[in-house]
Order: sequence, then C-alpha cells, then structure tokens
Amino acid sequence: MNAKNLACPIDTEQLVLDGKQLRCINGHTFDLARQGYVNLLPVQHKRSKHPGDSKEMVMARQRFLDTGVYAPLAELLSDLLHKAIAGLQHASCLDAGCGEGYYLAHVLSALRAKKTDATMNLIGLDISKEAIIGAAKRHKEVSWVVGTNRQPPLLPASVDIILCVFGFHSFQGFNKILPVGGKLILVEPGPDHLQQLRQATYAQLYKTELSKLDEAFARGFKLVDEQVLRFNTPPLTSETLKDLLLMTPHFFRATQQGRETVAKLDNVSLTVDVVFRTLEKTADDNLLKPLSPSVV
Ligand SMILES: C[S@@+](CC[C@H](N)C(=O)[O-])C[C@H]1O[C@@H](n2cnc3c(N)ncnc32)[C@H](O)[C@@H]1O
Repeated sequence: MNAKNLACPIDTEQLVLDGKQLRCINGHTFDLARQGYVNLLPVQHKRSKHPGDSKEMVMARQRFLDTGVYAPLAELLSDLLHKAIAGLQHASCLDAGCGEGYYLAHVLSALRAKKTDATMNLIGLDISKEAIIGAAKRHKEVSWVVGTNRQPPLLPASVDIILCVFGFHSFQGFNKILPVGGKLILVEPGPDHLQQLRQATYAQLYKTELSKLDEAFARGFKLVDEQVLRFNTPPLTSETLKDLLLMTPHFFRATQQGRETVAKLDNVSLTVDVVFRTLEKTADDNLLKPLSPSVV
C-alpha cells in the first residue's frame, strides 16, 4: 500500500502503515487483505450489504476490456492525464469508481512509456469489493481501496487528479480531496454510444444525456476541456456483446425480450461515442453558499 494520503473513514485522520494494517492516530485499524487491497468502507457508509458491481458484472467487464475494444479510450485518458500532470514533480491520481482496474493499469504503463518526470501515487477506489479484488490482480503498484466516492477516504486537498470513467461521481466528495487547481476528468457516454446495442435492448431508442454540470459549477468547478471520441468497433462476437450488456446499466433496465434479442446478435459493429470533460476546482466547497435543493 504505497499511498500516504489515505484517511480513516471514521474520523478522517491520516492512516499510516503499521505492519499489515493501516492505523490512524485514534487507534482505528484496517487490515491489508492478502489479495493486496484495503477495505475503508465502514458499514455506516454502505447503503446495501454488497454495494456496487457484482462479481458477475466485474468478470464480464474484465473479459470485455481485455479484448482491447476500448483501448482508444484508455489512450485518450492517458494523454489527458499526462497533460494534467505537466509541471508537477509528484502527482497523486485517484480513479474514482475504478471497477476492475483496466484504465488505471493502462494509464500506469502509458506514463512509464512516456517517461514522465513526475513520481506518481495512483489510487483505485471502488465501492464493490469484488471489483477491487479483480483490480488488485492487475497491478501491485496501485493502492487499491474499497470505499465510496461520496466520502472518499483521502486527506483533504491531497489528490491532484481524479478520473471518473463511466462512474458514479460526487462533486462534493471530489471537491474535498482536490486542492484549488486540481483536475477532475469525467468520462461519460455521448448521445450515440452503443446505439446498436440499445436499439436491440429497448423498444424505443433514446439518446443518452450527459450529466448536468450545474452542481459541479455550484461547488466551485469550471469546465476547462471537452473532447469527443467516436469510432466504430470491429464486428463483435455474440459472447463479447453479452459481456458488454452485462457490464452496463442496460442489462438491468432491459426487458427479458430485450436480453433475448441481444443474445441472438453476433458479428455486430457498435458505435462508440464517449465524451471526456476536464473540470478544474477553482474554490473550496465550504467557502460557497449552501446549494439550492434543485442542484443537489
Ligand atoms: C460502470 S462501472 C465503471 C467501472 C470502470 N470505471 C470502468 O469503466 O471500467 C461503475 C463502477 O462504479 C462503482 N460504484 C458505484 N457506486 C460507487 C460509489 N458510491 N463509490 C465508488 N464506486 C462506486 C461500481 O461498483 C462500478 O465498479
């Protein structure tokens, strides 16, 4: 566990390594799991017994991402991160909702290949224990943590860049752990993302909407960059299409008939349409006026 900026989820004090445990000044301890991660999600921060993605979803995502179909996303993410850390000697980067760790592992290899000057502290955080167990197998140098984006277990202003890839974002949680000038890279589906899959799944095709940034702006973020990545995948096999459906929210929204239609698809090329938005923190949240209920 390389990260020095982890915080106790109970009292927010710094956690320090003490043998095979992380310990805070008030004596709260958290064991390092033998698989190479730490669980910093106390029961009072959970909204269900097994929050986040299930083992089945994690494995489907791992199989899908390992086909390399989304490699262009990982490459653009690495380029944006490389740009964001320019000039820093040491950079702390959090992947918030990292899933089974594909993007962080790719980013680490890409930064090595680019021979960046900054020493990196990489942290992968996900509320799903199954996802983090999968992620810990990908890379030993990343600090893998079970925890929530709502109350990220990190010290205030201790993270330079947050990546949130198809993840659940919390502008309040993110504001706390970024310093002023820190960056948040949000990666989200654009309007035509996977339209062929959605067409097969739903009776009516709707356009995916990007999340509104009103709350982010109210909490002191500004938008500094926006890029769209669009391409068509090579024809995908039936197995890969099923994995893709299983790893997205469409699986749960789909009707039985929709799932059966997808199960019959084979050799289909999909449109990938993904938006990368970089936000910069310009002010501390606690300096701002209380938010109106309409943006929370
Ligand atoms: C759609 S997946 C994306 C995973 C990964 N970023 C990727 O693109 O491969 C969303 C992830 O967010 C996690 N998640 C959901 N709610 C969360 C929360 N409150 N805090 C942290 N992670 C959360 C899920 O367990 C899941 O792994």
